[in-house]
Formats: sequence, C-alpha cells, structure tokens
Amino acid sequence: MTTFFTELKRGTAASHTALEATYPFNTMMKPDIFDRQAYTQNLLILASFHNCVSKNIQKTKNKASLSEFIEAESVMRAVNQDLNALGRQPEYPDFPLIAQPDSPESALAGAYVWMGSSMGARILYRWLNHAGYEELPTAYYQQMITLGQHWPAFVEHGLDYVQRHNVDVDKCTEIANQLFDGLQVCANTLTHQQQHPA
Ligand code: HEM
Repeated sequence: MTTFFTELKRGTAASHTALEATYPFNTMMKPDIFDRQAYTQNLLILASFHNCVSKNIQKTKNKASLSEFIEAESVMRAVNQDLNALGRQPEYPDFPLIAQPDSPESALAGAYVWMGSSMGARILYRWLNHAGYEELPTAYYQQMITLGQHWPAFVEHGLDYVQRHNVDVDKCTEIANQLFDGLQVCANTLTHQQQHPA
C-alpha cells in the first residue's frame, strides 16, 4: 500500500521531465531566458490546470478528504490575484478533457499532481526572490508553499482514500499523465498564440 505514491511518482516521472523542458516552464531559474511574459504564461497554464482539477474533484463523491488538502478557493484566489497584478484578466486556456473526470482515480490523480506541484514552489519562490525578480507577484507560490507543508498528511489520507475506494494505481497513473499532457497542450496553445497573434 505504501508503494502507491512511489508507483505514481515513478509512472509520471517522464511526464514531469518533459513538462519541465517545455516553454514557459523551461525558463524557470534561467535568467538569460526567463522574463515577465514567461512568468505570466506559467501562471495562466497553472490557473487553467487548477481550475479543471478543482471542478473535477467537486464532481466526485466522497471527495472531502482530498478537498481539504488542495484548498482550491485559496489557490484560485492567489493565482487570479497574481494574474491581475500582471495586467491579465483571469482568462486562461481551456484545459483538455480527461477520461472519467468524476472517478476516484481521477480525483486522486488530480490531487496528487496539484499537491506535487507544491514541491517546486519553494525552490521557484526562493529563486524569484534572490535573482532580482522581487517585483513579480508571488501570492500563488506562497500559497503553494503552505500547501506543500501538508504533503505527509496528504499522503497518509491518500493511502486511506486508495483503500476505501479501491483506487487502481495504473488507472490513476494514466490520468495523472493525462493531466501532465494537458499542461503541455495549454503551454503549446499559448506559445502558438504568442507567435501568431489573432
Ligand atoms: C519549472 C517548474 C518546476 C520545477 C522546477 C519543479 C520541481 C520539482 C521538484 C524539485 C520536485 C521534487 C522531486 C523529488 O523530490 O524527487 C517536483 C516534484 C513534482 N512536481 Fe514539479 N516542478 C515544476 C513544475 C511542476 C508542475 C507545473 C507540476 C504540475 C502542475 C509539477 C508536479 C509535480 C509532481 C506531481 C511531483 C511529484 C511529487 C512526488 O510524488 O513526490 N511540477 N517538482
């Protein structure tokens, strides 16, 4: 049972690596290519992801133990606040549909990628504040750092959720990979718009 999250991490590692290599995520911590536009696009994609996952989790029965960890309202408020400060309306690209959005596998996969994304938050926040980008708004990353502090408790509740809802690890991994693919699709949509404005 304790191997569930190890399996999930192993099964999504390639997707994570591919995402980190995709614009705008690949500009993070690289002062020669990082700029305000890359940061804004990063937040637009993340807003789209969080919006999709929070809606899917809301549709799921027995979601209580997962909802309390993702703090959807606070995360959405923080990311929208940052986007406003960057002069953008909270209008983000459509997130691609995922299979069986109201299944327990989908809820846990969504919560996993959501909570997992907090892991990079501390590193990115620290970098932004030490590399001369203090003027960029960071409500979102600060919120994600707070969430990240609850990772061990999330894993504990997650294992309980797996047992109670008989969650299939392969199905869950497949949906988590679909979410990573969705992030890539959003990233490519924005990059395409940037190169070919309407
Ligand atoms: C440039 C941006 C990113 C950086 C620098 C980054 C960095 C990291 C780091 C350092 C870890 C911990 C790895 C470890 O302990 O072995 C991690 C894990 C993870 N990240 Fe990212 N990340 C980034 C973007 C994202 C995004 C956009 C998402 C999803 C929305 C995401 C989801 C995850 C997940 C699911 C994990 C695995 C958690 C686990 O099972 O332990 N990351 N990331």
